[in-house]
Amino acid sequence: MFNEKVHILDHPLLQHKVAILRDENTGVKEFREIVSEIAALECYEATRDLPLEDVEIKTPIATGTFKQLAGKKLAIVPILRAGLGMVDGILDLIPSAKVGHIGLYRDPETHQPVEYYCKMPSDIAERDVIILDPMLATGGSASAAITFIKGYGCKHIKLMNIIAAPEGIAVIQKDHPDVEIYVAAVDEKLNDHAYIVPGLGDAGDRIFGTK
Ligand code: URA
Repeated sequence: MFNEKVHILDHPLLQHKVAILRDENTGVKEFREIVSEIAALECYEATRDLPLEDVEIKTPIATGTFKQLAGKKLAIVPILRAGLGMVDGILDLIPSAKVGHIGLYRDPETHQPVEYYCKMPSDIAERDVIILDPMLATGGSASAAITFIKGYGCKHIKLMNIIAAPEGIAVIQKDHPDVEIYVAAVDEKLNDHAYIVPGLGDAGDRIFGTK
């Protein structure tokens, strides 16, 4: 159904935590914590291809050659506002990652995503980028965010979501076939209001308690 660029991360820990997010009785504190934990678990998979280099280390017993990260530069870019909920979980694992921000709204007439805020690290073109948005619904915002970030010259872009609709994945695959998608669950469909069914509701409202 999806091509090899789509990584559905159905590890039991992720399935369990996503089920808690889905529950309408889960409160804001727990929701926020679990979004962060899921981001960290997904980050573990999304960084599986990070290059390593040999380093010589003297243990208390002997000297040996071991592997350490080769220092590949990363940036994470949350799509405002719900993507912010995923930032800390990733920075827990990769504290040296830089963080860009992108805000988009949908033009009421053209229905096209319009950038209203964008602040990227100055060396973003040299960095591998992971875009964060918990919900991949229509795919419109994510596709526009990828287009904007490609405009800075970025060559390696990944998209990390928690729940996706098949419609959203199809849009990214069509618009950006080079982008790898990491997602913990693919749901049934979108409803008439572009919410994912069964989904978890409005991720931004549930992270920030603004409902
Ligand atoms: N954004 C959300 O927060 N939830 C959805 O179901 C779709 C888009």
